[in-house]
Amino acid sequence: MSMPAVSPSESDSNLTPERQRWQARALDDATRAALDADARAFLHQSVSTPCLDTVAKAEGIWLEDGQGRRLMDFHGNNVHHIGYGHPRLKAAITAQMDALPFAPRRFACEPATALAEKLGQITPGDLSKVLFTTGGSDAVEVAVKLARIATGRFKVLSFWDAFHGAGLGSGALSGEMLFRSGPAASLMPGTTHVAPFACYRCPYGHDVDDDGRPDLDRCKLACAKMVDYVLEREGDVAAIIAEPARAIPYLPPPGFWQQVREACDRHGVLLIFDEIPTGLGKTGRMFASEHENVTPDILVLGKALGGGILPIAAVVARSDLDVAGDWALGHYTHEKNPVTTRAALTTIEIIEDEGLVENAARIGEIAMAELEAMKQRQPAIGDVRGRGLLLGIELVESRETKAPAKDLAERVLYRALDAGLSFKTTMGNVLTLTPPLTVSEGQMLKALAIIDRAIAEG
Ligand SMILES: Cc1ncc(COP(=O)(O)O)c(C=O)c1O
Repeated sequence: MSMPAVSPSESDSNLTPERQRWQARALDDATRAALDADARAFLHQSVSTPCLDTVAKAEGIWLEDGQGRRLMDFHGNNVHHIGYGHPRLKAAITAQMDALPFAPRRFACEPATALAEKLGQITPGDLSKVLFTTGGSDAVEVAVKLARIATGRFKVLSFWDAFHGAGLGSGALSGEMLFRSGPAASLMPGTTHVAPFACYRCPYGHDVDDDGRPDLDRCKLACAKMVDYVLEREGDVAAIIAEPARAIPYLPPPGFWQQVREACDRHGVLLIFDEIPTGLGKTGRMFASEHENVTPDILVLGKALGGGILPIAAVVARSDLDVAGDWALGHYTHEKNPVTTRAALTTIEIIEDEGLVENAARIGEIAMAELEAMKQRQPAIGDVRGRGLLLGIELVESRETKAPAKDLAERVLYRALDAGLSFKTTMGNVLTLTPPLTVSEGQMLKALAIIDRAIAEG
């Protein structure tokens, strides 16, 4: 069955003519044969197979493709906070495999308990009761189930354009056409969506000032007010799930989360923060929500938690939400896997011991200053935004119309690959940069220079 064209969202498309042109000029015969084999073996789907290129090595900030080309990975699916293949992590995983390779769920094991306790220590407020899953999508669904049980309500509010996972439940909470349309659409009764904060393209029609900042006197946080409005009209919402800093990226306008937190408290709604991409330091604080001084009732982590080697995700809930003892929240096979939990524990220790959160904050500030300067030079840049190592460069046809410059974004993407830099686009025209927290100042400036030159070529 043929699918209708879907709007660009989470990631760049794998089917564009620009990609085909890049592959025609950049790939050798052996790589093409490997991609053909991949395409024969795997189910094709948007943003995965057919693939871009092959990868032979992943080390630190670097990917090396099958032809020996080295790329700085400023995408990394947000798993590579500590860099790929960190030696201390590999050693800890190996030792754990020798000591205890698996734990059936009915048995407690030291690394799983130690990780749960560690998460209780590093997360804000009274977040301390934990459950592990293998992937983020599952963890999101566990969080929602817990909120339903704790409140006795079943509705969940989330934001248009958000992504919370590809499962039938988590996809229903997502607000992207890619996941909500067609015969495989994820739709779940009780899911309600509201327009998100997105100051550069405010869904409520408010303009940003010349510096790209929201004018709060004018907009009066219409986006937060609408959340309150929907909670009141629905009356019996169990939870809101959202990314505190959106992965597109978009930062919340000042005060947004405080207002939403107050609205949640007024309406008896639990606040779930999905920090699967942003957690563990990406934005220059251990958790993106810490920038907002708002503590969720339930926090969801994943991706980098496994150190870029193993899959593990976590739900961390307020201790008084431990009320589901008679129900099944999500007893997944690898719920207490000693190897994945050891990997996560060691990853957090590496982040702490190497001062990686501080590095993310420092390099992020340098990058934002450089991006602001780039915006002054390049009329094709409509907006630059971000925090820590979650950065975005929005390309436009004109600053007046803000028409998305999607073709230019694609050209920049492939020119950057030629110059040794990998990143992804979101919404078709936002160059989205999420390097590991280990990135050096030199590497960041080099990456931005590559992008600068690629944009200037037009
Ligand atoms: C915000 C957010 N939530 C949930 C998920 C789903 O995680 P996973 O792919 O591990 O299921 C992702 C993955 O990209 C994500 O970015």
